[in-house]
Amino acid sequence: MHVRPSRDDVVRTNSHPFSEVLLIMPRSGDHFEHFRPHTRHKHLILKEYFSAWGHKLGLRNGAGDVILYVDACAGRGADDLGNQGSPLIAAVAAGAAAANISQRRQRPFGIHVLAIESNRSHASQLADVLAPFGSTVRVLPGTLEEHLGSILSEYADTPALFFIDPFGLEPLKAELIRAALDGDRREALLLFADQAALRHFGAIIAEDTRAERRYRSATTALPLFPDLTPINAGALAQAASQSRAQLEITRENALRIMNAAFGNEHWLPKLEAVPSADRRVAFLRLYTERLIEWGARYVLPIPVVDATGTHAYTLIHAAKSAKGYAAMKEAVAYALRHSPLPEAVVHRMRFAVASDLDSVEASVRDRFAGQTVRWAEDASNRTAACVRNFLLEETPAFPFEFDELKARLNDHRNRGRVITFSLPERSPHVD
Ligand SMILES: C[S@@+](CC[C@H](N)C(=O)[O-])C[C@H]1O[C@@H](n2cnc3c(N)ncnc32)[C@H](O)[C@@H]1O
Repeated sequence: MHVRPSRDDVVRTNSHPFSEVLLIMPRSGDHFEHFRPHTRHKHLILKEYFSAWGHKLGLRNGAGDVILYVDACAGRGADDLGNQGSPLIAAVAAGAAAANISQRRQRPFGIHVLAIESNRSHASQLADVLAPFGSTVRVLPGTLEEHLGSILSEYADTPALFFIDPFGLEPLKAELIRAALDGDRREALLLFADQAALRHFGAIIAEDTRAERRYRSATTALPLFPDLTPINAGALAQAASQSRAQLEITRENALRIMNAAFGNEHWLPKLEAVPSADRRVAFLRLYTERLIEWGARYVLPIPVVDATGTHAYTLIHAAKSAKGYAAMKEAVAYALRHSPLPEAVVHRMRFAVASDLDSVEASVRDRFAGQTVRWAEDASNRTAACVRNFLLEETPAFPFEFDELKARLNDHRNRGRVITFSLPERSPHVD
């Protein structure tokens, strides 16, 4: 099967025959021709989460009348085949959720959608796609950086979800994410292009280019023929010097983008100290730490793999509430159940987020020791603790692990239609 190259492909500067340096350039040209399966997988997560988020905020005690969704890299709204893109998914889901919540509350409830797009042609196509939704769904041409100040003052105390889905890392600036997360009930779903981060890192630490190495090896004197010089030495020297100049530019760009994403330059020595095989995980760990510094309380990394089985990027959900964290895990599980990706890829993604069930089981036994507790929420008493909510909100477990966890607790299951467990007291600690 032929699969188009992925976003942020490394593109060779082959406009010049001697150029050797890799440029890190986003490839957006084919993204909107047809959304590839892993993009549609991402859209399933967004659609499912969006509805849960709206209902969670609209139906909570003390809820206000408006919540805000900001699609900070909104795109065109749909691909050429008519598959819905993120702002259209949000606009449709916002309309449905707002109507449902208004009816249940017997009071108007609105979900406003702001779709920011820097590419003029994309923004204009998006404006056409979103026109039928009326004044609560707006397209803002430009960047999040340009609009964030006015958004935050217009929606000062409004709960908001920011979806930041760029090609590459450049729009993911620390100061923006920090400002977006600053406030009660603010959360973000970010596409962290970890492969691009690794390539930026590679460019930053590169000592020389292939053209420089080729020139050096061609011009190193051979012991038996010390006077022999290659006939193309001049061309090799020129190629080496051009590639050096290009490397310097690439390095500067990479440093600027990465320092802006992490908020300062302290990330670099930390990454340098990590063996190359562990660097992707190290990037995610470091970025998670940053999100927590910027106000997130729950951070969920969601690896996304493309149809060929290649890791594409990591979505990262930065939430303030356990309910948001739990809802995102449900949305991830939903997308894995309905994914357009091949089963082997889905299996790999499920495996990548799977939790340590021994440790999760121990947490349940510890939390509910000596108690009888329901598995599922009691509709007549939603604040009462139950195992399912505990698993979602307080442990790393995903819904697709629940059958296994129920089986592990089966010895303590009570008879009856409603599933309850009576868990034993903690055994005394023995040194
Ligand atoms: C991956 S596409 C977005 C796809 C869209 N979120 C979806 O799921 O359907 C990235 C889009 O962000 C736009 N973009 C890139 N940098 C941006 C920035 N700094 N601010 C706003 N939009 C940006 C690009 O023009 C492109 O349309």
